[in-house]
Amino acid sequence: MKRIAILTGGGDAPGLNAVIRSVVKSAVNQYNCEVMGVRDGFDGFLGDYGLFPLDQAAVRGILPRGGTILGSANRGNPFARKVIRAGKEVVEDVSQKIKDNIHDLKLDALIVVGGDGTLRIARELYPIGVPVIGVPKTIDNDIGGTERSFGFDTALNIATEAIDRLHSTAEAHHRVMVLELMGRNAGFITLSAGVAGGADVILIPEIPFTIEHINDKILHRTKRGTHFSIVAVAEGAMRKGGEIIVSRMGDDVYTPRLGGIAVRVADEITRLTKIESRVIVLGHLQRGGTPTAFDRELATRYGAAAVRLAAAGGFGRMVALQNGDIVDVSLEEALATPKRVDINSDSVLTARDLGISFGDGPTF
Ligand code: F6P
Repeated sequence: MKRIAILTGGGDAPGLNAVIRSVVKSAVNQYNCEVMGVRDGFDGFLGDYGLFPLDQAAVRGILPRGGTILGSANRGNPFARKVIRAGKEVVEDVSQKIKDNIHDLKLDALIVVGGDGTLRIARELYPIGVPVIGVPKTIDNDIGGTERSFGFDTALNIATEAIDRLHSTAEAHHRVMVLELMGRNAGFITLSAGVAGGADVILIPEIPFTIEHINDKILHRTKRGTHFSIVAVAEGAMRKGGEIIVSRMGDDVYTPRLGGIAVRVADEITRLTKIESRVIVLGHLQRGGTPTAFDRELATRYGAAAVRLAAAGGFGRMVALQNGDIVDVSLEEALATPKRVDINSDSVLTARDLGISFGDGPTF
């Protein structure tokens, strides 16, 4: 193994720089292997200045930094890329160009750090001859085949702190605070932060809710003399029989942008209970800033494991955490079934035991 490249794709997550640093340090130290950084996800293979050498000096000091020194792109699917040709927007497949560039650059491996969208691209590139290795990244923690993707722990801690801070102001003003958290299809951040922060209502995509059950919980607290409530809602949560709330529609290339569920829920709470409510959308604060120690360590272990896997020729595979150990699984297996909150899991049962409402039935 003489030369490898690394790219970061999709939405950023705390710990990306820790993976990059780990890949560079272990490739150089253990294999005397050169590492190239690819700018802005797969887009870096399409421009003239998209790749640059990454040595130990280039990664010095980046371990605690959020974001990614490589840049990222979540609109850069090489199999379906929007370009303007003769003034018209067309969708093109540029995957062959990426393969040819990788061949011309004599890359022995391409380490792809990304969430399900980016890893799906890696899975498609592998059969056409691109030697990909995947590293699971997403604050949503919804990638299959691994217990954890890095970034989740940091987002969870930020969301928990937000709930802690909302308690005092909610109590002071006798209000309902509705906190919207990220979680497109999976409610892991909202569930864990809701339990860790002591939310009264937790709404996640896996458990459709009714406003009536949420209001019953809030009114029950009022009757007991507790005149405030905290509702933690994942952006992808939906009413029973309802639909996901989208702030910008998607198309065949762009995924829809979610957002707005907290406003809908808060409006209905105030309308029906007459209790004042406020909405807080935590948004990208969950993704920015320094990673927790857990995420830094996990990202570092993933980076080194990805280099070992590349040296062993384990292409088409993804490093993963299982029972505390770093293992590898095929990208096929990792992407076959996306990870979702198990509604019979201990975390959900614990929340229910404590009287936390999921808005799906009576809970007191
Ligand atoms: O996939 C991670 C995630 O944080 C989702 O929860 C959220 O819907 C999405 O990214 C938003 O990403 P962006 O604003 O970068 O399009």
